[in-house]
Amino acid sequence: MLVTGTGTGVGKTIVTAAVAAAAAAAGKRVAVLKPGQTGGDSDETTIRQLAAPAHAATLVSYPDPLAPAAAARVSGLPPLDLDDVINALDESFDLTLVEGAGGLLVPMGPGWTMADFAEKTGAPAIVVARAGLGTLSDTALTLEALQRRGIAGYVVIGAWPAEPELVHYTNLDDMPGQLHGVLPEGAGGLEPGVFRRSAPGWLTPALYGTSDDPREDV
Ligand SMILES: Nc1ncnc2c1ncn2[C@@H]1O[C@H](COP(=O)(O)OP(=O)(O)OP(=O)(O)O)[C@@H](O)[C@H]1O
Ligand SMILES: [Mg+2]
Repeated sequence: MLVTGTGTGVGKTIVTAAVAAAAAAAGKRVAVLKPGQTGGDSDETTIRQLAAPAHAATLVSYPDPLAPAAAARVSGLPPLDLDDVINALDESFDLTLVEGAGGLLVPMGPGWTMADFAEKTGAPAIVVARAGLGTLSDTALTLEALQRRGIAGYVVIGAWPAEPELVHYTNLDDMPGQLHGVLPEGAGGLEPGVFRRSAPGWLTPALYGTSDDPREDV
């Protein structure tokens, strides 16, 4: 599965860790792949700490916090190649989660985005969305871009506020597509054992969770 989002900083890494933890709790062997890491952070490290998947890897890390294609250009390091990402997938795992960088149409390498990855592999996409004002259009745009490529989309709210306001509740009602998860704000800061025990309750069975209606659990 591809883990994409409506933009950068929406919670893709925490959602990836949650789905990995839920799938592992359901007995699946899970691999996580971060094709292009940019800036100083390591999403792989965060995911390893929170979810301890059977396998986790980063293909390339670029120092500058830019889209991967631009980060490759300014660093002089080789750009990411779509076929290299596809070749890095190992079919022996029950589930491989591939976390993009930023939103769906971010230039990953010369002439390709994570939408091309999903189209070429047939991978469905988790669309991580914000809870606050502006999320309805961002989410609808991402779902529309997936739909025209024949890619299935599963919407997950990356960080549901501890003190929701009216706009969060109306967004929850009006969120386009099918809502398959809601993670609480602060989930990424939970002690890993608590994170792993909690993760299935944030997600529907389609994402290896146990919640039949994530709207009801907030
Ligand atoms: N549910 C959550 N609980 C705690 N922190 C969160 C949650 N969701 C997001 N964050 C925090 O918000 C920031 C952005 O989240 P995250 O790194 O997961 O975004 P991303 O979509 O993976 O971004 P990128 O495009 O850089 O990979 C991080 O500092 C993360 O710790
Ligand atoms: Mg991330």
